[in-house]
Amino acid sequence: MNYTIAVIPGDGIGPDIVEQALKVMHKVGDKFGHTFTCQTVLAGGAAIDATGGCLPQETIDVCKASDAVLLGAVGGPKWDNLPGGERPERALLGIRKELGLFANLRPAVIFEELAAASPLKPEILAGGLDIVVVRELTGGIYFGERGTKETDLGPAAYDVEMYAEEEVRRIAKVAFDMAMKRNKHVTSVDKANVLVSSRLWRRVVAEVAKDYPEVTLDNMYVDNAAMQLVRNPRQFDVIVTSNIFGDILSDEASQITGSIGMLPSASLAKGNFGMYEPIHGSAPDIAGQNKANPTATILSVGMMLRYTFGLGAEADAVDAAVKTVLAQGYRTPDLYTGEGTLVGTAEMGQLIADAI
Ligand code: IPM
Ligand code: MG
Repeated sequence: MNYTIAVIPGDGIGPDIVEQALKVMHKVGDKFGHTFTCQTVLAGGAAIDATGGCLPQETIDVCKASDAVLLGAVGGPKWDNLPGGERPERALLGIRKELGLFANLRPAVIFEELAAASPLKPEILAGGLDIVVVRELTGGIYFGERGTKETDLGPAAYDVEMYAEEEVRRIAKVAFDMAMKRNKHVTSVDKANVLVSSRLWRRVVAEVAKDYPEVTLDNMYVDNAAMQLVRNPRQFDVIVTSNIFGDILSDEASQITGSIGMLPSASLAKGNFGMYEPIHGSAPDIAGQNKANPTATILSVGMMLRYTFGLGAEADAVDAAVKTVLAQGYRTPDLYTGEGTLVGTAEMGQLIADAI
């Protein structure tokens, strides 16, 4: 088959890691007989420098015309002083909205060989960790009405959290479908003791749950969820939550694994279209130095093969290649603890490609 992919290397280490992920992807193509046709486009700081805006229309058009999008990372200190609406990060929000990427899947998985990197005590993680945070990505306070106004206390600013029932329903379905393929447990996280939008969220999630009698649904307040994630993370299977709570909790969950350089993510639209990117940021301090860990981006290609192209065996091959190279003891600087073999970005990418 032939697949078209819009590639957004972005800023900082983005180009370094994307180059390696593409290497692995083309190796998969050779091995399994697929052609991946890539078109590179600009977003974030790179787009600001080249065009003046963080998300050129051409980028949106190319993404829309492609089967999937692969993104490295955006942002960096160079653009930190721009006003909020012009910052590179704005490109991410714009792409999500433009492409209708309402479902963000962020797995937090502990790789056996890297378990010691977790900041949690080993007994808390005995038996491993395999959580997926399903974050609503195109609604809520990040996209709600915003503004400034005069108040009794002087100038004020506001952002509105609002959810339509349909927005909750469609993300809940993604979470329950995911749970059906996993351990059949969904934890819906909200703040229904305070927020009326959370009460709607909770009601709609409960309605959707009726169609999934095999799945256990728990509701949890977000403050408790933040606590439970470090107290007993193994109680979770699928966590489904709003845009802002998912932003925060997915960072917490990823940190528990201790290897943020290993974690991929998928942002899915209705149908099979998706954008795939590592969970970590652009790490400008190590950009272009052959130090970044390309694995999260490589595993993001794996998710792309699985979720958008429906190529399960090919995706399994990517996951297995990563495990093989880890088991052989190869480590990028972020994972290196003095044991095994220290390798750079390009070597890691080549090793994983060779293991396909
Ligand atoms: C993320 C990031 C983005 C978000 C920022 C950079 C806009 O934190 O993908 O989690 O808040 O969604
Ligand atoms: Mg975030």
